[in-house]
Amino acid sequence: MFDLHKLVRKNVLELKPYSSARDEFQGQASVYLDANENPYSTGYNRYPDPHQAAVKEKLGEIKQVDPSRIFLGNGSDEAIDLLFRAFCEPGVDNVLIPQPTYGMYAVSADVNDVAIKSVKLTSKFDLDAKAILQICDSNTKLIFLCSPNNPSGNLLTREIAETILKEFTGLVVVDEAYIDFTNQPGFVPLLNQYPNLVVLQTLSKAWGLAGIRLGICFASPEIIQVLNKIKPPYNISILSQQVALDALNNETRKKEWVKEIIAEREKLKGQLKNLPLVMEVFPSDANFLLTRVTDAKDIYQKLVKRGVIVRDRTAVMLCDNCLRITVGTTEENQILIRELSAL
Ligand SMILES: Cc1ncc(COP(=O)(O)O)c(C=O)c1O
Repeated sequence: MFDLHKLVRKNVLELKPYSSARDEFQGQASVYLDANENPYSTGYNRYPDPHQAAVKEKLGEIKQVDPSRIFLGNGSDEAIDLLFRAFCEPGVDNVLIPQPTYGMYAVSADVNDVAIKSVKLTSKFDLDAKAILQICDSNTKLIFLCSPNNPSGNLLTREIAETILKEFTGLVVVDEAYIDFTNQPGFVPLLNQYPNLVVLQTLSKAWGLAGIRLGICFASPEIIQVLNKIKPPYNISILSQQVALDALNNETRKKEWVKEIIAEREKLKGQLKNLPLVMEVFPSDANFLLTRVTDAKDIYQKLVKRGVIVRDRTAVMLCDNCLRITVGTTEENQILIRELSAL
């Protein structure tokens, strides 16, 4: 049985969180002398809302989720790190990371001195639930599932992920950084069903805001409270909150970009497949294409010389001789195809 109380680290359960000036007084006043700020206005002389209420309300509306189920981090990377700090005892606990996947889960594990159990994805980059559940032990606190997966681009099979959610008593973190680029539903609507589900999304991809660093974590209000308890009080700047809110109020623009990117992805896939140096283009529900080529290292270096930068993933498990290519604008994709054709 899932028991959040047992999962949270004892020191986190017992700690008294920092109480900021903005926590202690939340109303409207004419004179603020409580936070040692500079009184002269620059537009940014005041601390930001530590709870990011306006952004969460808008996000909640878009995602059909109560704001109490939303945590905002300085990128998803902050949410990933806080999950480790909240739930994994350094030197004692472990997490399960299917491979290949997004590299930050393992880096965060290492930073927090948390052991990693790795399970290889299938040759189609899908989950092997049996292998995953078998390798977990009583100290396995988190399982990371990235869907669509980076670097492969495919969605993980929903039923398999649900089997893991049902059987595993720790938290299952489903990273949906690329969810906007698929027409399949994500896991957010399942939050009510699975108390151990954590879903990560981000404004860095479809929303076009990698520069402001805003990651979103959806989970039960109890899990969100734990993350809020340990986060730095003012982790999202006024600038990021303003820019995020502006973008969220323009959902049409995001939808148009996504439509364009998906159309470009499909076009690029067809063009890549026609090139003699391309062996295979893997199915993608993301904004990139994992592409197996004749000689990834050589082609990568030659593209660099021609001013086109892709990601060489040849050293990654199951990705021998693979390049990960982000879908760019029509013009950028044409340049890529022109340069690859020239090779
Ligand atoms: C699967 C996945 N999750 C998270 C991130 C990072 O998100 P953020 O920019 O919100 O930290 C990336 C970035 O490439 C990613 O591929």
